[in-house]
Amino acid sequence: MERDVSDKVLSDVHVFTPHETLPDTDESVNTEHMMETKLDDVGLQVWQGCLLLCDFVLHLHTKFKASRVVDLGAGVGLTSIVAGLFAESVLVTDVGEMILRTSESNIALNKPLLGEDCTFLVKELNWLKFCGPKDSYSDARSSRFQMTEDDHTLLDGVSLILAAEVIYDPDLTDAFFSTVKQLMSRPPAKTLYMTLEKRLVFSLADLDVVSPAYEHFQEKMEELLALSLDGVTFHCCQVPCDFPQYFTYDRHKHLELWQITSSLSD
Ligand SMILES: C[S@@+](CC[C@H](N)C(=O)[O-])C[C@H]1O[C@@H](n2cnc3c(N)ncnc32)[C@H](O)[C@@H]1O
Repeated sequence: MERDVSDKVLSDVHVFTPHETLPDTDESVNTEHMMETKLDDVGLQVWQGCLLLCDFVLHLHTKFKASRVVDLGAGVGLTSIVAGLFAESVLVTDVGEMILRTSESNIALNKPLLGEDCTFLVKELNWLKFCGPKDSYSDARSSRFQMTEDDHTLLDGVSLILAAEVIYDPDLTDAFFSTVKQLMSRPPAKTLYMTLEKRLVFSLADLDVVSPAYEHFQEKMEELLALSLDGVTFHCCQVPCDFPQYFTYDRHKHLELWQITSSLSD
C-alpha cells in the first residue's frame, strides 16, 4: 500500500507483527514510515532508539498514567502514540510539515487503539529557534502546526519529556540541550527520558574507532550537570536496559537510555 503525503510518497505501511503486540492485549500499533531516507528526512524512519523508548514507556506505564508529556523530535510519532496509551496529553513536536503531517495521520490511524482518553497536539518546535514561550519560532507553513499561547502553556506544564534518537549532529545536539535546559528550568520539575545509539566510526586521524556524536553528547551532559541556574539543578543517569522487550529490534549494547531530571528550589 502506498499513500501520498505532501509531495512525497510514504511507502512501506508497516503493520507490526504479533511479536509487537502490546503487553496483555491482542492490540498492535501501526505506523506509516519509510524504511530508509536521506539525512533531511531522518524523522520519517522509525529508529531503534524509538523502539527502545517505546519498550521503556510500556514498562514504566504507571509513571505515564494521566501525565502530560512532550515528545521532542517525535518523527512519525510512534513514541508519542505509545505514551498516549497512558498519558493525559501528548504534545508531539518536530520540524517540517511533512513529518508533522505524518505523525498526525499515524495518531489518527491508531485512534481505535488509543480511544479518547489522551489529547494529542502536533506542533512545530524547532530547537534551533527555541527561545521560550513568548517567541515566535515556527516555520510551519500551515498555521495548525504553529505553537499558540495555549500550546506554550501546555508545554510549560509537562512533567515528562521524551526524545528518541536525537543525537547525531553537533549543532542539533547543542540546540537540543539548549531547549531542554530552558524547558526544564521552569516549574513543574520535569524528567526527560532519551535514547540514543552510540555510532562508531573509524578515524584515520586517531587511527582508532571513535564516536564523535556520542562524545559531544557526553560534553553537553556534563555542561548541564555543572549548571546551577536560579536554584535549578540537573541530575542524570543511564538507565539499565533490562526491562522486557515488546517490539522487535536488536537491543544491543550501544543502544542507550538516559534519564535527566531537574530539581527546582522554591
Ligand atoms: C533520527 S530522527 C528520530 C525520530 C524519532 N524520534 C525516532 O526515533 O524514530 C531525529 C528527529 O529529530 C528531528 N529534528 C531535526 N532537527 C530538529 C530541530 N531543529 N528541531 C526539532 N526537531 C528536529 C528530525 O526531524 C527527526 O524527526
